[in-house]
Amino acid sequence: MLRLLPILALLGSAGAFSLPGSPCRPPSSLEATIAVFGASGLTASECVYQALANGDSVVGLTRNPGNLVVPKGSGGSKAGAAISEPNLTMIAGSASDPSCVRRVFADRKVDGVIIALGGKTKEVGDTMLTDSTKVILEAMKANDVKRVAVVSSIGVGDSKDQAPFAFKILMMTVMKKIFADKNEQEAVVESSGLEWCLVRPGGLTVDAPTGVINVIEGEAGSIPRADVAQFCLDAITVPDFPYLQKAPCISSVGGTSWVKDRSAKAREGNGNPM
Ligand SMILES: NC(=O)c1ccc[n+]([C@@H]2O[C@H](COP(=O)([O-])OP(=O)(O)OC[C@H]3O[C@@H](n4cnc5c(N)ncnc54)[C@H](OP(=O)(O)O)[C@@H]3O)[C@@H](O)[C@H]2O)c1
Repeated sequence: MLRLLPILALLGSAGAFSLPGSPCRPPSSLEATIAVFGASGLTASECVYQALANGDSVVGLTRNPGNLVVPKGSGGSKAGAAISEPNLTMIAGSASDPSCVRRVFADRKVDGVIIALGGKTKEVGDTMLTDSTKVILEAMKANDVKRVAVVSSIGVGDSKDQAPFAFKILMMTVMKKIFADKNEQEAVVESSGLEWCLVRPGGLTVDAPTGVINVIEGEAGSIPRADVAQFCLDAITVPDFPYLQKAPCISSVGGTSWVKDRSAKAREGNGNPM
């Protein structure tokens, strides 16, 4: 079920896993069921962990579910512990395998999807992101799931010039294949007919969440994966999320030409929920 309240930023780095809900989420009557693809990854595990802390149910797909642990950023002293929670279902399989992806949507009504897949092309293949995303979007349509957030990257599509110089060099050399796959992945999402947000973070860290998520028009800075996760969760649960059918570049630290500070601090006193 989609959220009925405005987006509020995650505050601080408290390991909220054992709490009934984070301080910024609406009560349990609005719990959602969220599917996370690549669920053991560093960003994806933040999505899983924060969604569970919010009282949501999560179904995660990854090839190695045993790698899912409490993330460093939001997990605090619990970081590295296994996550075992009644509201969590983990499925072992590849996101490019339709039969595995179908299992994610079987026996439950999924409200929203986060795709946070990654890996080196020599390990996951040159077209894993595109192939998997096609399979996932088809499964969403077959199951009437409308909303998807995809963790892409600064430098993809029309954000090429927002990448810092050193990163541009990597994009043109060692990361050339990854960026070809990411560009194709974004194109597949854009033409899906679904409600989508292509999330383009700057340099990812495993720091505690800052609660500051700037949408950047200039050069990207860095951002904790915990903040990226919160942006993705908002993208799929807030009905009037302002970056649907858009590809915002987000950073928390550094970066130039901010167009929006989505943190709670920025919203204080101006009556603007965003
Ligand atoms: N590093 C940066 O500074 C940066 C900046 C901007 C954007 N990004 C992008 O952000 C995204 C997330 O990055 P991250 O570092 O958080 O990710 P990550 O830790 O590398 O996690 C990616 C996950 O994808 C899973 N995966 C790979 N192939 C799969 C498949 N076929 N089926 C199912 N799961 C699969 C892997 O789990 P299994 O091995 O268990 O399957 C892995 O846990 C990536 O796309 C990355 O390119 C990174």
